[in-house]
Amino acid sequence: MDTVAVIGAGQMGSGIAQTVAAHGMKVLLADIDLATAEKARGGIDKALGRLVGKGKLEIADAEATLARIEAVADYAPMEQADLIIEAATEKEAVKKAIFEKAGERLAADAIMASNTSSIPITRMANYAPDPARFIGLHFFNPVPVMQLIEVIPGLATNETVTERTCAFARALGKEVVLSQDEPGFVVNRILLPMINEAVFVLGQSTAGIADIDKGCRLGLNHPMGPLQLADFVGLDTCLDIIRVLHETTGDTKYRPAPLLVKYVEAGWLGRKTGRGFYDYSGEEPVPTR
Ligand code: 3HC
Repeated sequence: MDTVAVIGAGQMGSGIAQTVAAHGMKVLLADIDLATAEKARGGIDKALGRLVGKGKLEIADAEATLARIEAVADYAPMEQADLIIEAATEKEAVKKAIFEKAGERLAADAIMASNTSSIPITRMANYAPDPARFIGLHFFNPVPVMQLIEVIPGLATNETVTERTCAFARALGKEVVLSQDEPGFVVNRILLPMINEAVFVLGQSTAGIADIDKGCRLGLNHPMGPLQLADFVGLDTCLDIIRVLHETTGDTKYRPAPLLVKYVEAGWLGRKTGRGFYDYSGEEPVPTR
Protein backbone atom coordinates (compact mmCIF):
# COMPACT_ATOMS: atom_id res chain seq x y z
CA MET A 1 0.00 0.00 0.00
CA ASP A 2 1.34 3.44 -0.91
CA THR A 3 -1.57 5.70 0.00
CA VAL A 4 -4.15 5.13 2.71
CA ALA A 5 -7.20 7.31 3.34
CA VAL A 6 -8.60 7.60 6.86
CA ILE A 7 -12.12 8.94 7.30
CA GLY A 8 -12.90 10.09 10.82
CA ALA A 9 -10.17 11.99 12.62
CA GLY A 10 -11.10 11.35 16.24
CA GLN A 11 -9.11 9.35 18.77
CA MET A 12 -8.97 6.20 16.62
CA GLY A 13 -8.64 7.85 13.20
CA SER A 14 -5.80 10.06 14.43
CA GLY A 15 -4.00 7.08 15.93
CA ILE A 16 -4.43 5.10 12.71
CA ALA A 17 -3.19 8.03 10.59
CA GLN A 18 -0.13 8.48 12.83
CA THR A 19 0.73 4.78 12.75
CA VAL A 20 0.28 4.40 8.99
CA ALA A 21 2.37 7.51 8.27
CA ALA A 22 5.05 6.35 10.73
CA HIS A 23 5.39 3.24 8.56
CA GLY A 24 6.18 5.21 5.42
CA MET A 25 2.79 5.41 3.73
CA LYS A 26 1.03 8.57 2.60
CA VAL A 27 -2.17 9.33 4.52
CA LEU A 28 -5.20 11.34 3.43
CA LEU A 29 -7.09 12.33 6.59
CA ALA A 30 -10.72 13.46 6.34
CA ASP A 31 -13.47 14.40 8.75
CA ILE A 32 -16.69 16.42 8.48
CA ASP A 33 -14.71 19.42 7.21
CA LEU A 34 -11.14 20.52 6.53
CA ALA A 35 -10.82 22.43 9.82
CA THR A 36 -11.63 19.28 11.85
CA ALA A 37 -9.14 17.20 9.84
CA GLU A 38 -6.47 19.89 10.24
CA LYS A 39 -7.09 20.10 13.99
CA ALA A 40 -6.57 16.33 14.20
CA ARG A 41 -3.34 16.67 12.22
CA GLY A 42 -2.26 19.25 14.81
CA GLY A 43 -3.03 16.70 17.55
CA ILE A 44 -0.85 14.11 15.78
CA ASP A 45 1.93 16.72 15.61
CA LYS A 46 1.69 17.10 19.41
CA ALA A 47 1.69 13.30 19.95
CA LEU A 48 4.82 13.00 17.78
CA GLY A 49 6.36 15.91 19.72
CA ARG A 50 5.80 14.02 23.00
CA LEU A 51 7.63 10.99 21.58
CA VAL A 52 10.51 13.27 20.52
CA GLY A 53 10.51 14.83 24.01
CA LYS A 54 10.82 11.36 25.57
CA GLY A 55 13.75 10.57 23.26
CA LYS A 56 11.81 7.79 21.49
CA LEU A 57 11.67 9.44 18.09
CA GLU A 58 14.12 11.58 16.11
CA ILE A 59 12.86 15.06 15.16
CA ALA A 60 13.51 14.30 11.48
CA ASP A 61 11.35 11.14 11.67
CA ALA A 62 8.55 13.05 13.42
CA GLU A 63 8.66 15.73 10.71
CA ALA A 64 8.69 13.15 7.93
CA THR A 65 5.74 11.29 9.51
CA LEU A 66 3.70 14.49 9.78
CA ALA A 67 4.62 15.52 6.22
CA ARG A 68 3.12 12.25 4.96
CA ILE A 69 -0.28 13.16 6.49
CA GLU A 70 -2.46 15.42 4.40
CA ALA A 71 -5.72 16.78 5.82
CA VAL A 72 -8.29 16.80 3.03
CA ALA A 73 -11.55 18.73 2.67
CA ASP A 74 -13.53 16.01 0.89
CA TYR A 75 -13.27 12.51 -0.55
CA ALA A 76 -12.15 13.51 -4.07
CA PRO A 77 -8.39 12.87 -3.47
CA MET A 78 -9.20 9.35 -2.25
CA GLU A 79 -9.17 8.15 -5.84
CA GLN A 80 -5.40 7.80 -5.25
CA ALA A 81 -5.83 5.56 -2.19
CA ASP A 82 -5.08 1.83 -2.18
CA LEU A 83 -7.08 1.49 1.01
CA ILE A 84 -9.82 3.62 2.57
CA ILE A 85 -10.29 3.10 6.31
CA GLU A 86 -13.49 4.38 7.89
CA ALA A 87 -12.96 5.28 11.56
CA ALA A 88 -16.02 7.42 12.23
CA THR A 89 -18.40 7.29 15.15
CA GLU A 90 -19.97 3.91 15.97
CA LYS A 91 -23.31 4.73 14.35
CA GLU A 92 -24.37 2.65 11.36
CA ALA A 93 -26.17 5.54 9.59
CA VAL A 94 -23.00 7.68 9.75
CA LYS A 95 -20.86 4.85 8.43
CA LYS A 96 -23.37 4.03 5.67
CA ALA A 97 -23.26 7.63 4.40
CA ILE A 98 -19.45 7.49 4.37
CA PHE A 99 -19.26 4.19 2.49
CA GLU A 100 -21.73 5.42 -0.11
CA LYS A 101 -20.01 8.78 -0.64
CA ALA A 102 -16.38 7.61 -0.40
CA GLY A 103 -17.35 4.56 -2.46
CA GLU A 104 -17.79 6.86 -5.45
CA ARG A 105 -14.03 7.53 -5.19
CA LEU A 106 -12.83 3.98 -4.53
CA ALA A 107 -10.19 3.05 -7.12
CA ALA A 108 -10.66 -0.11 -9.19
CA ASP A 109 -8.43 -2.38 -7.08
CA ALA A 110 -8.65 -0.49 -3.76
CA ILE A 111 -9.99 -1.91 -0.51
CA MET A 112 -12.60 -0.28 1.72
CA ALA A 113 -12.28 -1.13 5.41
CA SER A 114 -14.20 -0.27 8.55
CA ASN A 115 -12.68 0.15 11.99
CA THR A 116 -16.07 -0.67 13.48
CA SER A 117 -15.95 -2.05 17.01
CA SER A 118 -18.94 -4.33 16.51
CA ILE A 119 -21.29 -3.55 13.62
CA PRO A 120 -21.62 -6.58 11.28
CA ILE A 121 -19.23 -6.36 8.32
CA THR A 122 -21.42 -8.45 6.01
CA ARG A 123 -24.30 -6.00 6.49
CA MET A 124 -22.17 -2.88 6.00
CA ALA A 125 -20.55 -4.36 2.87
CA ASN A 126 -23.84 -3.65 1.10
CA TYR A 127 -23.25 0.10 1.51
CA ALA A 128 -19.90 -0.15 -0.31
CA PRO A 129 -19.51 -0.28 -4.11
CA ASP A 130 -18.04 -3.79 -4.05
CA PRO A 131 -18.75 -6.11 -1.06
CA ALA A 132 -15.89 -8.37 -2.24
CA ARG A 133 -13.46 -5.52 -1.47
CA PHE A 134 -14.99 -4.61 1.90
CA ILE A 135 -13.49 -5.80 5.20
CA GLY A 136 -13.28 -5.10 8.94
CA LEU A 137 -9.95 -3.72 10.19
CA HIS A 138 -10.26 -3.21 13.92
CA PHE A 139 -7.55 -1.22 15.70
CA PHE A 140 -7.11 -0.81 19.46
CA ASN A 141 -6.61 2.37 21.43
CA PRO A 142 -4.00 3.88 21.69
CA VAL A 143 -3.26 2.70 18.14
CA PRO A 144 0.46 3.57 18.07
CA VAL A 145 1.00 1.42 21.21
CA MET A 146 -1.39 -1.52 20.98
CA GLN A 147 0.02 -4.61 19.27
CA LEU A 148 -3.19 -6.05 17.86
CA ILE A 149 -5.34 -5.58 14.79
CA GLU A 150 -8.40 -7.75 14.23
CA VAL A 151 -9.18 -8.50 10.58
CA ILE A 152 -12.79 -9.46 9.89
CA PRO A 153 -13.78 -10.64 6.42
CA GLY A 154 -17.50 -10.47 5.68
CA LEU A 155 -19.35 -13.23 3.88
CA ALA A 156 -18.64 -11.66 0.48
CA THR A 157 -15.04 -10.59 1.12
CA ASN A 158 -12.59 -11.87 -1.47
CA GLU A 159 -9.79 -14.06 -0.06
CA THR A 160 -7.10 -11.96 -1.76
CA VAL A 161 -8.56 -8.86 -0.11
CA THR A 162 -8.28 -10.55 3.29
CA GLU A 163 -4.65 -11.50 2.56
CA ARG A 164 -3.78 -7.96 1.39
CA THR A 165 -5.43 -6.50 4.49
CA CYS A 166 -3.51 -8.84 6.81
CA ALA A 167 -0.28 -7.93 5.01
CA PHE A 168 -1.06 -4.23 5.51
CA ALA A 169 -1.69 -4.78 9.25
CA ARG A 170 1.62 -6.63 9.60
CA ALA A 171 3.41 -3.87 7.67
CA LEU A 172 2.35 -1.58 10.55
CA GLY A 173 4.30 -3.86 12.90
CA LYS A 174 1.09 -5.28 14.40
CA GLU A 175 -0.04 -8.82 15.17
CA VAL A 176 -3.20 -10.01 13.44
CA VAL A 177 -6.13 -11.98 14.79
CA LEU A 178 -8.53 -13.13 12.10
CA SER A 179 -12.14 -13.17 13.31
CA GLN A 180 -15.33 -14.42 11.75
CA ASP A 181 -18.00 -11.76 11.34
CA GLU A 182 -19.81 -12.45 14.62
CA PRO A 183 -21.09 -9.81 17.06
CA GLY A 184 -18.21 -7.98 18.80
CA PHE A 185 -15.69 -10.10 16.86
CA VAL A 186 -13.22 -11.62 19.36
CA VAL A 187 -11.90 -8.94 21.71
CA ASN A 188 -14.90 -6.65 22.23
CA ARG A 189 -17.15 -9.69 22.67
CA ILE A 190 -15.05 -10.45 25.74
CA LEU A 191 -14.16 -6.90 26.87
CA LEU A 192 -17.54 -5.18 26.75
CA PRO A 193 -19.40 -7.66 28.96
CA MET A 194 -16.59 -7.12 31.51
CA ILE A 195 -16.89 -3.33 31.37
CA ASN A 196 -20.70 -3.56 31.49
CA GLU A 197 -20.51 -5.90 34.48
CA ALA A 198 -18.18 -3.47 36.25
CA VAL A 199 -20.86 -0.79 35.85
CA PHE A 200 -23.48 -3.19 37.31
CA VAL A 201 -21.12 -3.78 40.26
CA LEU A 202 -20.85 -0.01 40.71
CA GLY A 203 -24.61 0.52 40.31
CA GLN A 204 -25.29 -2.09 42.99
CA SER A 205 -22.80 -0.33 45.32
CA THR A 206 -20.80 -3.53 45.74
CA ALA A 207 -17.70 -1.33 45.67
CA GLY A 208 -16.73 2.17 44.59
CA ILE A 209 -14.98 3.14 41.35
CA ALA A 210 -11.46 3.18 42.82
CA ASP A 211 -11.82 -0.29 44.35
CA ILE A 212 -13.41 -1.88 41.28
CA ASP A 213 -10.51 -0.65 39.16
CA LYS A 214 -7.93 -1.48 41.81
CA GLY A 215 -9.37 -5.01 42.04
CA CYS A 216 -8.86 -5.65 38.34
CA ARG A 217 -5.48 -3.89 38.16
CA LEU A 218 -3.98 -5.75 41.11
CA GLY A 219 -6.09 -8.91 41.10
CA LEU A 220 -5.97 -9.57 37.36
CA ASN A 221 -2.86 -7.62 36.35
CA HIS A 222 -4.83 -5.48 33.88
CA PRO A 223 -3.01 -2.22 33.00
CA MET A 224 -6.23 -0.26 33.64
CA GLY A 225 -9.34 -1.11 35.61
CA PRO A 226 -12.56 -1.60 33.59
CA LEU A 227 -14.09 1.76 34.56
CA GLN A 228 -10.89 3.65 33.77
CA LEU A 229 -10.73 1.77 30.46
CA ALA A 230 -14.39 2.60 29.74
CA ASP A 231 -13.59 6.31 30.25
CA PHE A 232 -10.58 5.87 27.95
CA VAL A 233 -12.60 4.20 25.18
CA GLY A 234 -15.56 6.58 25.64
CA LEU A 235 -18.75 5.62 27.46
CA ASP A 236 -20.85 6.35 24.37
CA THR A 237 -18.74 3.91 22.34
CA CYS A 238 -18.99 1.29 25.11
CA LEU A 239 -22.78 1.68 25.16
CA ASP A 240 -22.97 1.49 21.37
CA ILE A 241 -21.00 -1.77 21.37
CA ILE A 242 -22.91 -3.45 24.19
CA ARG A 243 -26.17 -2.44 22.46
CA VAL A 244 -25.01 -4.03 19.21
CA LEU A 245 -24.15 -7.23 21.13
CA HIS A 246 -27.56 -7.13 22.80
CA GLU A 247 -29.53 -6.39 19.64
CA THR A 248 -27.70 -8.74 17.29
CA THR A 249 -27.69 -11.76 19.61
CA GLY A 250 -30.96 -11.05 21.44
CA ASP A 251 -29.21 -12.43 24.52
CA THR A 252 -30.17 -10.58 27.72
CA LYS A 253 -26.74 -11.21 29.20
CA TYR A 254 -25.61 -8.24 27.07
CA ARG A 255 -28.28 -5.79 28.36
CA PRO A 256 -26.60 -2.44 29.08
CA ALA A 257 -26.11 -1.54 32.74
CA PRO A 258 -28.67 1.21 33.56
CA LEU A 259 -25.94 3.37 35.11
CA LEU A 260 -23.95 3.26 31.84
CA VAL A 261 -27.02 4.51 29.97
CA LYS A 262 -27.47 7.30 32.54
CA TYR A 263 -23.86 8.47 32.28
CA VAL A 264 -24.15 8.66 28.51
CA GLU A 265 -27.48 10.50 28.76
CA ALA A 266 -25.81 12.97 31.15
CA GLY A 267 -23.10 13.60 28.56
CA TRP A 268 -20.47 12.14 30.91
CA LEU A 269 -18.62 10.26 28.21
CA GLY A 270 -15.22 9.79 29.83
CA ARG A 271 -11.88 11.44 29.21
CA LYS A 272 -12.97 13.22 26.05
CA THR A 273 -15.64 15.25 27.89
CA GLY A 274 -13.59 15.74 31.07
CA ARG A 275 -15.91 13.54 33.10
CA GLY A 276 -16.97 9.91 33.10
CA PHE A 277 -16.48 7.56 36.02
CA TYR A 278 -13.54 9.84 36.85
CA ASP A 279 -13.32 13.63 36.88
CA TYR A 280 -10.42 14.80 34.70
CA SER A 281 -10.51 18.50 35.55
CA GLY A 282 -7.52 18.35 37.95
CA GLU A 283 -3.96 17.05 37.66
CA GLU A 284 -4.97 13.47 38.48
CA PRO A 285 -8.28 11.73 37.62
CA VAL A 286 -10.61 11.61 40.66
CA PRO A 287 -13.24 8.85 41.04
CA THR A 288 -16.74 10.36 41.13
CA ARG A 289 -18.39 7.65 43.29
N1 3HC B 1 0.52 7.47 21.38
C1 3HC B 1 1.78 6.97 21.41
N2 3HC B 1 2.32 6.38 22.50
C2 3HC B 1 1.56 6.32 23.63
C3 3HC B 1 0.24 6.83 23.68
C4 3HC B 1 -0.27 7.42 22.50
N3 3HC B 1 -1.52 7.91 22.44
N4 3HC B 1 -0.23 6.61 24.94
C5 3HC B 1 0.74 6.01 25.64
N5 3HC B 1 1.81 5.81 24.84
C6 3HC B 1 3.05 5.11 25.17
C7 3HC B 1 3.93 5.89 26.11
O1 3HC B 1 4.80 6.74 25.39
C8 3HC B 1 4.68 4.79 26.84
O2 3HC B 1 5.75 4.28 26.08
P1 3HC B 1 7.06 3.62 26.82
O3 3HC B 1 6.57 2.49 27.65
O4 3HC B 1 7.93 3.20 25.67
O5 3HC B 1 7.62 4.75 27.65
C9 3HC B 1 3.67 3.65 26.91
O6 3HC B 1 2.70 3.91 25.90
C10 3HC B 1 3.02 3.61 28.25
O7 3HC B 1 2.44 4.86 28.48
P2 3HC B 1 2.47 5.62 29.86
O8 3HC B 1 3.72 5.29 30.63
O9 3HC B 1 2.14 7.06 29.64
O10 3HC B 1 1.20 5.08 30.61
P3 3HC B 1 0.84 3.62 31.04
O11 3HC B 1 2.01 2.80 31.40
O12 3HC B 1 -0.22 3.85 32.05
O13 3HC B 1 0.19 2.98 29.73
C11 3HC B 1 -1.58 2.52 28.26
C12 3HC B 1 -0.87 3.58 29.04
C13 3HC B 1 -0.68 1.98 27.16
C14 3HC B 1 -2.79 3.19 27.64
C15 3HC B 1 -1.96 1.35 29.24
O14 3HC B 1 -2.63 1.86 30.34
C16 3HC B 1 -2.84 0.31 28.60
O15 3HC B 1 -2.37 -0.57 27.89
N6 3HC B 1 -4.15 0.38 28.89
C17 3HC B 1 -5.13 -0.53 28.29
C18 3HC B 1 -5.44 -0.08 26.89
C19 3HC B 1 -6.44 -0.97 26.25
O16 3HC B 1 -6.95 -1.95 26.78
N7 3HC B 1 -6.80 -0.62 25.03
C20 3HC B 1 -7.81 -1.32 24.28
C21 3HC B 1 -9.10 -0.65 24.46
S1 3HC B 1 -10.39 -1.48 23.61
C22 3HC B 1 -10.32 -0.87 22.05
O17 3HC B 1 -9.56 0.02 21.73
C23 3HC B 1 -11.28 -1.46 21.08
C24 3HC B 1 -12.40 -0.54 20.78
O18 3HC B 1 -13.16 -1.09 19.74
C25 3HC B 1 -13.30 -0.28 21.97
